[in-house]
Amino acid sequence: MKILVVGGGGREHAIIKKIKENKSVEVIYALPGNGGIARDAVCVPIGAKDIDGIVKFAVEKSVDYAIVAPDDPLVLGCVDALEAHGILCFGPRANAAIIEGSKVFSKELMKKYGIPTAAYETFSDMDAALSYLEDAPIPIVVKADGLALGKGAIVCMTRDEAKDAVVSMMRDGKFGKSGERVVIEEFMTGPEVSVLSFTDGNVVVPMVSSMDHKRAGDGDTGLNTGGMGTVAPNPYYTDAVADECMEKIFIPTMKAMNAEGRTFRGCLYFGLMITPDGPRVVEYNCRFGDPETQVVLPLLESDLLTVMMATTNGTLSECEVKWKSGCAACVVAASAGYPQSYESGFELTIPDDVEDHTYVAGAAINENGALVTKGGRVLGVTAVADTLEDALCESYRMVEKIGFANKYYRHDIGKRALEAGRI
Ligand code: AMP
Ligand code: GLY
Repeated sequence: MKILVVGGGGREHAIIKKIKENKSVEVIYALPGNGGIARDAVCVPIGAKDIDGIVKFAVEKSVDYAIVAPDDPLVLGCVDALEAHGILCFGPRANAAIIEGSKVFSKELMKKYGIPTAAYETFSDMDAALSYLEDAPIPIVVKADGLALGKGAIVCMTRDEAKDAVVSMMRDGKFGKSGERVVIEEFMTGPEVSVLSFTDGNVVVPMVSSMDHKRAGDGDTGLNTGGMGTVAPNPYYTDAVADECMEKIFIPTMKAMNAEGRTFRGCLYFGLMITPDGPRVVEYNCRFGDPETQVVLPLLESDLLTVMMATTNGTLSECEVKWKSGCAACVVAASAGYPQSYESGFELTIPDDVEDHTYVAGAAINENGALVTKGGRVLGVTAVADTLEDALCESYRMVEKIGFANKYYRHDIGKRALEAGRI
């Protein structure tokens, strides 16, 4: 089979490495991929948002199956466009990807179908938003409606911060069109859990739960990033919580999307907070999380391509989705200075014994054929072991062996999960 993967980060690298395990795969094209992915797939310089370019390439190469991984192409209708040319895809159509593409849509969906989430108001008029904030409870959370590279949610500890957030989005256009409408929502407390799931519109099959580490610095300090590390499973996601989520959140969400004529097929990601009043949805994503995928897929025992195709065909209920019993940890190595300014272009060395465990997020091949850093997050290294402690120890041992100038990583990935003490 000829497989096409849209995207070019660590998540896509993890998907590609897993897909390669299937013997029927002849070739994998990554659009655009990156310098590290080039060791596992044929990288083609077509951007993930270039829908016409992607479709043209897929048709030319008679691709059998396309996996659309990032949010942008999904929201832009990449799956619809490929399907219109008879190409089977993993990923939701645009009318379902809106569950991530518009916070206003997802909040209204949850309200209409009684799915637990933070109370909220939506605004498309800045003055109305500002006057609402005059006596709204503080802390409070201000969110841009549309996609904003994961940076569109601002947790505000004071009234002034909340007003500034509204003005930056609605007057100053901080997130462009994505911030023309805002959601202002209740501040929730409790540990966060990421649950990715496969769904074909008939059943929801949750994957192993995970925990992201979004802040740049140790002890959850510093700016928000795309994710500095992950562990799986998440100790806060007990069997009792999982049952409650299935009953009150996962199945109701799948059914709600069906009822709206927006059947979701692909990976539906539930960002959850385990509040004192039970689990609530913080956000939905219409895709695999990054770097959650880098700990979840290494724990998948079943063949990923088979599961993905069952998701596309609506036969997921007949497909076995088995998980390994251990734990996984991924430590991300970034360029120092990320997520603000940082230097790139440094030679990157990955020892042979670490390469199989490495998912490259930001690297290129320079004119001399050397692998060099390109981007804030450079790579993630994942280890799987019987215990979380061993997985973390091994992941840190490997990350230390990776060489590039200005390498930066957090030293406390998994610390909170270990302290939660269930694994
Ligand atoms: P989002 O982009 O919606 O996933 O939000 C990013 C992060 O902001 C989440 O992972 C939470 O840590 C935090 N957050 C978002 N909404 C809330 C909320 N209602 N209460 C508390 N924290 C929140
Ligand atoms: N790691 C969070 C996300 O992929 O949105």
